Amino acid sequence: MGASDLAVLVKQAADIVDVIGRVVTLRRAGHRHVGLCPFHQEKTPSFHVDPETQFFHCFGCGQGGDVVTFVMKHQNLSFGDALRHLADRYHVVLPEASATTGVAAEASRKEREALFRVVEAGAEFFYGQLHHSPAGRTARDYLKQRGIAEHVVEAERMGYAPDRWNGLLHHLENAGFDTGLAEKVGLLSRGARDRVYDRFRHRLIFPIRDDQNRVVAFGGRSLPRENGVETRPTGAARGEEPKYLNSPENPLYHKGRMLYQLSRAREACRNHRQVLLVEGYLDLLAFHNHGFYRVVATLGTALTPHQARLLARMSDEVVLAYDGDEAGEKAMLRALPLFMEEELTVSCIRFPAGMDPDDYLRAHGMEGLERLVSGREDLGRYAIDRVLERWDGSTGGKSRIVSELRPILRSVRQPVLKAEYVRMVAGRLSVPEGAVQEQVGGGEGRRPTVQAPPRRALQARVEQPGSLEESIVRLMIHYPGLIDEVERSGAVEHFSDTKVKTLAELLLKSPHPPSGAFSAPAVFQQLEDPDLRGLLTRFMMESADLADVETHLSDWLGALCQLKPRRSRLCALSEALDRAQRDGDMVEVKTLLGQIQSLHSAKKKGRRSTPNH
Ligand code: CTP
Ligand code: MN
Repeated sequence: MGASDLAVLVKQAADIVDVIGRVVTLRRAGHRHVGLCPFHQEKTPSFHVDPETQFFHCFGCGQGGDVVTFVMKHQNLSFGDALRHLADRYHVVLPEASATTGVAAEASRKEREALFRVVEAGAEFFYGQLHHSPAGRTARDYLKQRGIAEHVVEAERMGYAPDRWNGLLHHLENAGFDTGLAEKVGLLSRGARDRVYDRFRHRLIFPIRDDQNRVVAFGGRSLPRENGVETRPTGAARGEEPKYLNSPENPLYHKGRMLYQLSRAREACRNHRQVLLVEGYLDLLAFHNHGFYRVVATLGTALTPHQARLLARMSDEVVLAYDGDEAGEKAMLRALPLFMEEELTVSCIRFPAGMDPDDYLRAHGMEGLERLVSGREDLGRYAIDRVLERWDGSTGGKSRIVSELRPILRSVRQPVLKAEYVRMVAGRLSVPEGAVQEQVGGGEGRRPTVQAPPRRALQARVEQPGSLEESIVRLMIHYPGLIDEVERSGAVEHFSDTKVKTLAELLLKSPHPPSGAFSAPAVFQQLEDPDLRGLLTRFMMESADLADVETHLSDWLGALCQLKPRRSRLCALSEALDRAQRDGDMVEVKTLLGQIQSLHSAKKKGRRSTPNH
């Protein structure tokens, strides 16, 4: 399944009004929705969203596009990431992963079962190695040293991957497994000359389970080498092994769609719908050490929208407990909008510099940690505080600070919460709440009292006719049946605006009646230049309701075709006139003046049919 297939599915599932409506306050205006443009500062709404074409366009800054373009721009994502973001949010499942019918589905179900079995066999092998092999001793010692309790090691069925290239490989072969499947789930790797070998070597193994508690992947932590001192490196230095090596994504495992210990935590959340979110496997198991199970961890990546949604389903509040360093703080702040999107209460606890939850639990126990949790801070407030701290106290600085807060405040979907944040910011900067609200734009709570802009002003903008060339292209888009006539006239050749011309030429080449069906979105897909995209979306949004389209078009085409030759003719004539005057050739001057005059009167006549309604 390629990106373009996914794009089609995503666009079917993600309604543009819904997507944009989550971040821009939209008001219905006729069959469109309008709001303040999120891409430039404005006071009156010129940002239009059209549910019919599923396109947006801002008549203020000229940007436009479809739902994917919007997410790309708004969240600064690549095309692929924007697609995945929307696919996550609108539960677009790739066909191979969804329950399809037929032979293919049966085969893939069979294969999944086989994959689960080989992963399970791997897990049992690692578990056995931890307990029964002499080499497992290093890992057992390490677990003890890190204070992981025996009951956790057993409940998790943690393991040890021996320091060999073919330990697991031989085990699986002897047990009659298809090593191709083991490769597919990343237990084995394939190297030069197609040599297959164990992926995990001399590592402590954390089995990772899906939401039905089946093992689907492994995290492997590096262990101290013989007589080597464990230094708890933060990352991999050159030539050094990475601290963590994880299973690659595979048909059973998608790290952005799962959470470590999700099923365990979901059970524990039944009674108390609050869950802690940490970043490390060992951080998480430190909680299990203390019999605390309302905790999940991400799987080595930043939090994804999908994960935020998983959390929203099982709890009412998420408490972030990330490392007490700058990276931890940044990661928490980045997660904020994802939770806002889910209208989930989110708070955070901060650990003393350099400490992570594991360190803190060892130093202060569960009681200490519970004290931190009861003193937790609302993450939105926390984020706002971090920005407010940067205010230099100056009056000019206030506006800059509010601008910086804009993305945070705008991401809040709950009106009461938003009002509270606005009050907090206004109080701290000593400015009226209304001023903050206005600068932030789109106060959800004020929606019913917002005055609709005079409808005429809106219409005037939309129906702005622009140049003759633009009028022709607008007609081509609204009446693709006329594209052929434009082509026959040869008018496009004479277009002087290069952007409009490029767009017109593309329209001539695109399928259109009578030989094919015209599709503006398909044309949009072929455009890369944002100016051209904006031009197309503008023409799509602008009205082209004319009484007699054909007549208008032929008038315009005629005017355009005459205009161009006339202009160059005029140039030549006035040059000749200059020369004749210099030479004192009065007869020639008289003839030339006559010619120029008749050309001018012809132009006036031609003008009569150009659009100026
Ligand atoms: N991680 C990873 N790959 C790395 C480093 C980290 O996938 N090279 C992921 C792991 O899921 C890890 C988490 O990021 O659990 C947090 O990393 P870190 O804080 O460095 O590790 P801890 O789990 O705290 O392990 P330790 O306490 O042993 O340092
Ligand atoms: Mn740690």
